This record gives sequence, structure tokens and C-alpha cells, in this order.
Amino acid sequence: METIRMSTLVCVLLCLFCSYSEARVHKHKQKHSHSHGHKHPISYISQPPSPPPESADPPSPSSDEDPDTSDGVFDVRAFGAVGDGEADDTAAFKSAWDAACQFDQSAAATILVPHSHTFMVQSTIFTGPCQSDLIFQVEGTVMPPDGPESWPTKNSKRQWLVFYRVDGLTLEGGGVIDGRGQKWWDLPCKPHKGVNGTTLPGPCDSPIALRFFMSSDLTVQGLKFKNSPQFHFRFDNCRGVHIENIVIKAPALSPNTDGIHIENTNSVEIYNSVISNGDDCVSIGSGCYDVDIKNVTCGPSHGISIGSLGNHNSRACVSNITVRDSTIKTSDNGVRIKTWQGGYGAVSGITFSNIHMDNVRNPIIIDQFYCSTKSCANQTSAVLVSDIQYSNIKGTYDIRSPPIRFACSDSVPCTNLTLLEVELLPAQGDMVLDPYCWNAYGDLDTLTIPPISCLLDGVPPSGADNESDYC
Ligand SMILES: *[C@@H]1O[C@H](CO)[C@@H](O)[C@H](O)[C@H]1NC(C)=O
Ligand SMILES: *[C@@H]1O[C@H](CO)[C@@H](O)[C@H](O)[C@H]1NC(C)=O
Ligand SMILES: *[C@@H]1O[C@H](CO)[C@@H](O)[C@H](O)[C@H]1NC(C)=O
Ligand SMILES: *[C@@H]1O[C@H](CO)[C@@H](O)[C@H](O)[C@H]1NC(C)=O
Ligand SMILES: *[C@@H]1O[C@H](CO)[C@@H](O)[C@H](O)[C@H]1NC(C)=O
Ligand SMILES: *[C@@H]1O[C@H](CO)[C@@H](O)[C@H](O)[C@H]1NC(C)=O
Repeated sequence: METIRMSTLVCVLLCLFCSYSEARVHKHKQKHSHSHGHKHPISYISQPPSPPPESADPPSPSSDEDPDTSDGVFDVRAFGAVGDGEADDTAAFKSAWDAACQFDQSAAATILVPHSHTFMVQSTIFTGPCQSDLIFQVEGTVMPPDGPESWPTKNSKRQWLVFYRVDGLTLEGGGVIDGRGQKWWDLPCKPHKGVNGTTLPGPCDSPIALRFFMSSDLTVQGLKFKNSPQFHFRFDNCRGVHIENIVIKAPALSPNTDGIHIENTNSVEIYNSVISNGDDCVSIGSGCYDVDIKNVTCGPSHGISIGSLGNHNSRACVSNITVRDSTIKTSDNGVRIKTWQGGYGAVSGITFSNIHMDNVRNPIIIDQFYCSTKSCANQTSAVLVSDIQYSNIKGTYDIRSPPIRFACSDSVPCTNLTLLEVELLPAQGDMVLDPYCWNAYGDLDTLTIPPISCLLDGVPPSGADNESDYC
């Protein structure tokens, strides 16, 4: 008896709720969706935002979806997002993603983040694979909670928006992804932010704004990304990444705000973009190959960096990287390769061409003694650096360091460095006439400014090839 009465009651309530939700009262759906179910990458199939409407709808094959997304557009507001910059829109974004991800048509599904709204979204993992290609179209602003104090303790402090196992995703639009990094940069554990300019110990995790794991065929275009608490983008184990026409902007003194970092990722194109930040403009980690960077303007920043590689005696392999037709201005480094002592593997087949330097401190640098602490012991193994070409690198440098520096390890010399049309002049002050080379083998195809006489001819006597360089 009791149960029968209860279920009748539930049924009545449910039906009432259905017609209520038909009247587009979306705030309710947000409460009804499962905000706890998203911690694990596997949880992409979350519950539909509300019980499906039944008899209330006119019969039509596509009408068992609520909201109506038969056109393939999944507007986050239709899933309960408020967009006033205060309300927590996380559940709505997740629901829109889950629905779009299950959209089973030949056309791509579009998740729309409309303009003139600011959506506050907590740390979230958007998981694939999805039924069709997805377009994440951001026309408004998306931002996280403001700083570590407002970050829910149950959420990882290492990442904000994560895409996992997604194939065929385009992130685009005229909007802004704003990482609200200031309060993270000001943590007392960050360089010089403790009392009296000290750096205090303690947990210092800060979220990377956008992370992509094990995904392929990714396009990012047109958007503006600013003030990430840490790296703006990080790609791990991805394949086929096309980034075009984006702007990344953070203050020159914001700690660790790398623009784009790739790791174990291949077939990458980064084109026509402008990046200014407080750390590397683009950084390329271990396991990357077939990377093409073209028409990128960096600065202020720390330049374009391959490495650091070979940390903790690890094997690192990086090959076939091209950086061309780009500008680096007001930066600590221009084009850099950095490896730790004691690593294995190789960096090879790297071309830097047509790069304009504007007041850069180390325009051309290879550093095989990279060390982030006070001093690291020299070791007998190192990541081999070979087949590196610098052509048409022109512009100005900051005279505090030599414009060209090749510091290669004692046991594994750099080989086949080629310089062609390298002309670097002081931004102000006197020319630094002694480029630095240590154990660097290579050729000058044309005279350089400043002149270089320290490169060693030919190949190293012992032959650099050695099992430890195996990739
Ligand atoms: C900070 O510096 C001031 C002035 O030098 C000094 O009086 C104060 O004790 C320092 N505070 C700490 C925590 O070191
Ligand atoms: C280079 O990129 C900028 C945007 O950063 C764009 O305006 C310009 O047209 C691009 N140049 C070429 C030759 O594509
Ligand atoms: C190097 O990478 C480019 C893409 O950036 C690719 O087209 C080319 O085939 C690669 N070269 C080799 C030798 O693999
Ligand atoms: C490592 O080797 C380099 C080159 O021989 C030398 O300049 C440097 O002082 C050495 N560093 C240490 C910590 O021994
Ligand atoms: C390879 O190089 C390492 C140092 O990098 C050295 O210890 C080892 O003996 C070399 N092996 C051979 C076969 O030459
Ligand atoms: C030297 O490196 C260039 C690429 O920078 C490559 O084309 C060439 O084959 C290399 N030469 C040798 C002898 O390995």
C-alpha cells in the first residue's frame, strides 16, 4: 500500500516536473544533474539533465531530446548555464558536452558558449571518444573560480579544463578563456612572492588552463587565452594538433605561464599566433616530432624552447621540428635547446629559419648543462644534439649575454650545427664579439655577425653515435 501510494506520488510529481521543465526553467536542471560524477575520466556519460518528457510533446522523432538540439547545436544555456560570472556553470557545461558527445549524426555537433556572457566553470574533464566531431565554440568568456581560496578542495589544483581521449575536436570562436591567474601568481611559494621578496616552501600547484590527453585531430583557432595560473596549454600523447590565429596573453612577470607546451605529441602545427607571457612561448618536451611552427610572434616571453630534456637520467627523443617566419621580442631566450646532464636519447633534425629577434637576451642557445637548482654534477651521458640548422636569424640582442651560445657536454658533443645568414647586433651598447662554444661541431655556410670562430670542424673523434643516443 505504502509503496503504491509513493510511486503514484512520484509519478505525479515527475509529470509535473516534466511540464515545468518544458517551460524552459533551466536552473532546475543544473541542480538535478550529477555534479559529483565527473571526477574520473571515464564518467563522460552523465545523466541527462532532466527526466525525458513523455506525452507532453507533439510526436516527432527528434523530440525525445530536451532541450531541442536536433540541429546539432548544444547551447550551454539550454543546459542550465547562467553566464552571469557568479553562478557555477560546471554542470551545464558537462551536460552540454555529454549530450553533444552522444550526438550521432554525420555532421559535427557544436557546443555553443554564447557571447555577452561570462561563464564560471570549475575544474572539469571533458571525455571522449564522441560519436561525431565536436566544435566547442566559445563566443563569450569562460573563467574558473577566482584563485586558490575559491578552488574546491576536492578538485585537482593542477588543471582546469581537460580534454581526454577526444578525437576530432575544434575549439574556436571570438571569445576569451580567462584563467584569472593573479591570485595564484601571488602565492608565497612563487618566486619572490613570500615576505620580503622570499620564496617560501610548501605546496605550490597551480592549474594549467587547458590540457589535452591522448587526443587526436585537434584544432584550436581564433580564441584569446589569458592569465592562466600556470601553462596556458599542455598537450600530452596527442597526435594531429593544429593551432592557428590565437592570442595568448599574460604579464611578463607571471611565473610559469608557458604559452603552449607539448609532450609526447606529434604532427603539430602552430601558425599565425601571438603569445606574450612570463615563461616559454612554446616549449617542446620529450617524445615530440613533426612539429611546424610558423608566423608566431613571441614576447615578452622566454622564447621558443626544446627541452628541458633528459631529467633524472631519462631518455628523450625529439626530431623534425621547424620554427620559421617568426618574431621573438623582449625575451630571455630566442630559440633554445636545453638538456640535463645524465640523459639519453637525441634531439635532431631541428630547423630555425627566418626568425627576427628584437632585443633578445640569448637569441641562439644550446645548453646541455641545464640545471634548475644551484648546481648539478656533470655526468658521462647526455641527450645528443645533432643536425640543427639556423638560417636567416637576424635582429638585435641584449648585451648582457653573448648572442650565440653552444654549451655542449664533454662526453656527447653537439654535431652538425649549421649556421647560415645569422646577423645579430646589440639592441644598445657594444657588440659582444665572443660567441661561446664548448664541444660544438658544425659549419658556417655564410659569415655571421658576430663572427664565430669557436665551432669545431667535422665530426668528433670518437664519433658521437653510441647506443645511448638510440631513439
Ligand atoms: C622583512 O624585512 C623587514 C625590514 O628589513 C624586517 O624588519 C622584517 O623582520 C622582515 N620580515 C621577515 C618575516 O623576515
Ligand atoms: C601572421 O600572423 C598574423 C596574426 O598573428 C596575421 O595577421 C598575418 O596575416 C600572418 N601573416 C601571414 C603571412 O600569414
Ligand atoms: C617533418 O614534419 C613535417 C610536418 O611538420 C612532415 O610533413 C614531414 O614529412 C616530416 N619529415 C620527415 C622526414 O618525417
Ligand atoms: C661541467 O663541465 C663543464 C664543461 O667541461 C664545466 O664548465 C663545468 O664547470 C662542469 N660543472 C661541474 C658542476 O663540474
Ligand atoms: C656511450 O657513451 C657513454 C657516455 O655517454 C659511455 O659511457 C659508453 O661507454 C659509450 N658506449 C659505447 C659503446 O661507446
Ligand atoms: C646535417 O643536418 C642537416 C639538417 O640540419 C641535414 O640535412 C644533413 O643531412 C646533416 N648532415 C649530416 C652529415 O648528417
